[in-house]
Amino acid sequence: MVASGRPPHKTDEPVNPPIVLSSTFYSLGESTAGEKVYGRFTNPTWDPLEETIAKLEDSQLPALAYASGMAAVAAGLSLIPVGGTIVIPRHAYNGSLALVAELEKTLNLTVRRVELADTHATLKAFDGADVAWLESPTNPMLEVADLPALLAGAKEQGVLSIVDNTFSTPLLQRPLQHGADVVVHSATKYMGGHSDVVLGAVVTRSPDLRAKLHGMRTLHGAVPGPFEAWLTLRGIRTMALRLEKAEANARELARRLSEHPAISKVRYPGLETDPGYQRAKSQMDGFGSILCIEITGGAQAADEMLARLELWTPATSLGGVESLAERRRRHTGEPESVPENLVRLSVGIENVNDLFADLDLALKSS
Ligand SMILES: Cc1ncc(COP(=O)(O)O)c(C=O)c1O
Repeated sequence: MVASGRPPHKTDEPVNPPIVLSSTFYSLGESTAGEKVYGRFTNPTWDPLEETIAKLEDSQLPALAYASGMAAVAAGLSLIPVGGTIVIPRHAYNGSLALVAELEKTLNLTVRRVELADTHATLKAFDGADVAWLESPTNPMLEVADLPALLAGAKEQGVLSIVDNTFSTPLLQRPLQHGADVVVHSATKYMGGHSDVVLGAVVTRSPDLRAKLHGMRTLHGAVPGPFEAWLTLRGIRTMALRLEKAEANARELARRLSEHPAISKVRYPGLETDPGYQRAKSQMDGFGSILCIEITGGAQAADEMLARLELWTPATSLGGVESLAERRRRHTGEPESVPENLVRLSVGIENVNDLFADLDLALKSS
């Protein structure tokens, strides 16, 4: 990741790839395959990023970068045929759930909503389906899916599998290695890593699927700006370090917060008592840096606690160097089965004692 996507080792070559700020390219006569032509078709700044994301996800084919994670999600969902059947988790990123609900009407889809942690029920729901949409751990309930079993099952039953790997990052899990057909990312989160860029990515090992997605990206036009692509590659270079520190903080916070009297429940797959612990341990290379807490006293107590935070920022999003906290049910689109008092913590790389002290103070005053 540190070395990937850099210019060749030659005199006077820059160490970093340049940002190419051009919407069009010199092009004369009939355009040929591989010619750049126009900034919606390609931009040289995307290339090192797409190559690097592909390496991370273990694909020989370059990833495809998009204008946002949702553009990547929409690209994945565009693979569903009209009138098709999709299996989705009951809990997942609410934007993905909302888009599926929209497509349910406009494409006349059959949507099977499943408890993703229930492998037996999910495999059963695959029967006759066209697409399996998977996310693990889920946002924000942090349920852990048995990805190896589900992806093998999808393959066996001829179901196209798409995994949103945003929460885990390819450092913790690589779904293509378990047979996933497509992986999508909100690179806005851990890849960018500094809450200063919005970008998405799709990766596949299938030349046919890539060609189809590439063609649609060009026609739909949800392409990233060159500066965003450059920033994301820069972010990826430090992702391993950031994630290591953030996860160490998250583990320690999960442990301390489990004993906090103002918290009724801590959800974190890295806690040995968590229902997803064994599964996460066996299939992931770490537990990530998102944890959720449920505040005694309900939604109002949670909102008041958030307003008192000083080091943590109450804000949506996740995966940046700075710690963010959010009560998810403040969004009307969040499923009602997500508890009202659930606060999602995206743990950053600050000093863990400072992070705990800030939370502790805000919780104590409630
Ligand atoms: C798991 C997951 N997937 C996709 C998205 C959408 O990404 P973006 O906000 O970059 O469009 C998000 C955003 O929060 C997310 O958490």
